[in-house]
Amino acid sequence: MNLLSSLDLSQKEIATLLDLSSRLKRSAASPLSKSSPLLALLFEKTSTRTRVSLEAAMHELGGSCVYIDSHTSQISRGETIHDTARVLGSYVDIIAARVYKHSDIEDLAAAAGVPVINALSDAEHPTQALADVYTIKQVFGKLKGLRIAFVGDIATNTANSLMVTAAKTGMQVSLVGPDACVPSRKYVDAASKYSTVEVSDDMEDGLEGCDVVYTDTFVSMGEEAQASKRRKLFAPYQLNSKTLRFASDGARVMHCLPAHRGEEITSEVLDGKSSIAWVQAENKLHVGKAILLYLLNKVS
Ligand code: CP
Ligand code: NVA
Repeated sequence: MNLLSSLDLSQKEIATLLDLSSRLKRSAASPLSKSSPLLALLFEKTSTRTRVSLEAAMHELGGSCVYIDSHTSQISRGETIHDTARVLGSYVDIIAARVYKHSDIEDLAAAAGVPVINALSDAEHPTQALADVYTIKQVFGKLKGLRIAFVGDIATNTANSLMVTAAKTGMQVSLVGPDACVPSRKYVDAASKYSTVEVSDDMEDGLEGCDVVYTDTFVSMGEEAQASKRRKLFAPYQLNSKTLRFASDGARVMHCLPAHRGEEITSEVLDGKSSIAWVQAENKLHVGKAILLYLLNKVS
C-alpha cells in the first residue's frame, strides 16, 4: 500500500490515521521496535519539516532512515526514477519521495515493490493535508461542519491535497485567489463529491464564515523563474490583521510552512494568537508515525 495521493484515501482510512496519530502522540510505545525497518527518503527538492519529521518518526518508532538526494545519487547522471526505485526497494522497507513531477511518484511506486509515501509532488502534498486536518480536529474538537478557506495559490499542491482531505472529513472548503489562478478541476470535482467547494477572487466574500484560514507560499519550489510575476498576482491575498477580520471571530490561521513573512502572511498573524501553524508543524511528527505504521501494516 502507498500514500501517493489524497484522492486514494477513503474517509475510513483518514479517520483511522487521525485516531492512530492521537494514540501515538500520547504514547511512546512502538510496535516496530522488534523489526527495525528502514525508510529511504529520496528527495529532489529541499525540505525541513517533512524530511526531519519522517526521520524523527521512524527513529522514535525504532526503525532507521537513509537520506538520498537527486544531486548526490545516480539520478543526477540520468538513472531513471524507475530503475532507482527498483534497486532501493530491494534494500529498504518503505520509501518517502519528494519529486517535481507527480508521475514520477507513480513510477516510483510501480517499481519499488515496497510502500511509497508522496512527500510532496507538483500536484499533491498528502501527508501535509493529513497533519492539517489532524491539527484542526485537535484545536476544534471536530471537523464536520467547519469551514476552511485556502487563500492565495489555490492551484498549488497543498491546496489540492487539503481540499480533498478536508472535504472527506466533512469540512466545507472555500478557495480564495485571483481569477488567473484556476484551481485544478480534478481536485475540485473529487472534493465536491464529499462537501461544498466554493471559489472566489474576493477576500471578504471568500473568508466570510470561515473557522480556519490557510495559506502557502506564492512561489512554490520549481516556480522561481516566475517569482516576481507571482508575487504581484497574489499580493492582494496576503493574510494580515486586516484581511483576517473578514473571517469568523476566533478563526485560526494555518500555514504549511516555510513562510515568506511579509509576502503571503505577515509576522503579526503568523506569530499571533490566531496562528496554529507551529502545532501544525509539530503534528507532522505524530501523523508521520501513523502513516509509517499504517503503510508498514503494523496497526494493531
Ligand atoms: N510543510 C512542508 O512540507 O515543509 P518542508 O518543505 O520543510 O518539508
Ligand atoms: N506549495 C509549496 C509547499 C511547500 C511545503 C511548494 O511546493 O513549494
